[in-house]
Amino acid sequence: MATPQITLERVKELVRREQERYEAEHPKSKQMFEEARNNLVGGVPMSWMRIWVGGFPVFVEKAEGVHITDVDGHNYLDLCLGDTGGLCGHAHPRITEAIYEQIKNRGTTTMLPTEDSIWVGKELERRFKLPCWQILMTATDANRMALKAAREYTGRRLILAFNGTYHGSVDETLCVNIMGYLINAPGLMGPIVEDPSVMTRMIEFNDVDALEEALAPQDVACVITEPVLTNVGIIKPEPGYHDALRELTRKYGTLLLIDETHSMCAGPRGVTGEMDLDPDIFVVGKFIAGGYPAAALGFTREISDWMAARQPWHVFFGFGGTLSGNATAVAGIRAALEHALNDDNFKRMIKLATRMEEGLAAVIREHELEWYVARIGCRVEFRFLPQAPRNGAEALFADVPYNAVDLIEEGLTGPLEVLIHLYCANRGILLTPVHEMALVGPTTTEGEVDKYVGVVGELVKELVAG
Ligand SMILES: Cc1ncc(COP(=O)(O)O)c(C=O)c1O
Repeated sequence: MATPQITLERVKELVRREQERYEAEHPKSKQMFEEARNNLVGGVPMSWMRIWVGGFPVFVEKAEGVHITDVDGHNYLDLCLGDTGGLCGHAHPRITEAIYEQIKNRGTTTMLPTEDSIWVGKELERRFKLPCWQILMTATDANRMALKAAREYTGRRLILAFNGTYHGSVDETLCVNIMGYLINAPGLMGPIVEDPSVMTRMIEFNDVDALEEALAPQDVACVITEPVLTNVGIIKPEPGYHDALRELTRKYGTLLLIDETHSMCAGPRGVTGEMDLDPDIFVVGKFIAGGYPAAALGFTREISDWMAARQPWHVFFGFGGTLSGNATAVAGIRAALEHALNDDNFKRMIKLATRMEEGLAAVIREHELEWYVARIGCRVEFRFLPQAPRNGAEALFADVPYNAVDLIEEGLTGPLEVLIHLYCANRGILLTPVHEMALVGPTTTEGEVDKYVGVVGELVKELVAG
């Protein structure tokens, strides 16, 4: 246990108490889950919905703004926001109106462009500098398409990704480097390829020497990275790292793909805008149309011209799909950029997230916990480590916490995590599964931020009292 004043026995005792309460207070969700197991794999329509704690997820009646009402009548402050998909707030009135208007009066999808796409292309260039865009349905789609384009453009096969990162269900990045051995992850269906090093080279983030060594053979088509890592916890680039990354990728003829699917919570122009980064390829998804399926994929003029000049470029098979760039998604992106992902909202959200960060830090200080709190824009998390890791290996293994056996018992989630999520859920707060990660949305209030910090404070008091 990273913090000696919290014992595993106490954690487990509280988990039992909170689990009993969760089951007793969610009879309808429990019953629906039992019924759903007959026809849905694992009882849910998508596997991540199974990673909520409590043995079954809450079934949603309604989601609006930053609130969710479940079928048992509980109203939650939603700090998960669909793992960023709901960053604009659920059912944002202006985005809903734009999508509804498109579907009702103009048609959902026609395989033809609409005028909105011109506005969207211009706005994406204004924000992220890259001039040429494609619209896809998901960030996974966009990353897959980007890696294919990079391979074809460079004539190279390998993709360089950073250990512990996630870019969607993209085979090239679903690997983990464990002590020098690259293995497919999660390996659910057996290995994707016997030797993943034929498609991927994987190194640690924030290590310039390793980066140069990996790129020097000049066989890497593309480096794919988040500008600030989020999926192994928030890991910030060390000073100068992004400069080195850009310089070395140029030196060795490798393209640089920045994936802002989570990190755009840093502001309306993402970390790319904040840090004035200069990628060749850019991806953003999830919330870009207010949670309606859509992603944007940007290219330099050179790559775009090369794609367009291919004979015939439009039969560039394997990219996107029939519904990519559909009029409804494009209308949704326009409305989200105009009405939700704007300067005013981000200013407000970041101010509140800073308040949350400071509140959690005060709880940690008060009880002398060996935990840290991190924030990027309107995303805040705390972890059970004394300080932030520098890279994926440190993040993945440093806090394989206190009891690996329990981790295996609980699946991906350790007992302390189970407790925190259950404790919050029983007090009307939904936190992002697996992480202690909270997102502030456009309509989150100061009172709601304080409520969350208060609940974490109460839990910690109970924990150390044991
Ligand atoms: C950084 C990053 N890129 C891409 C994706 C894939 O997004 P989607 O699942 O919406 O395709 C994710 C999903 O969590 C992500 O975290």
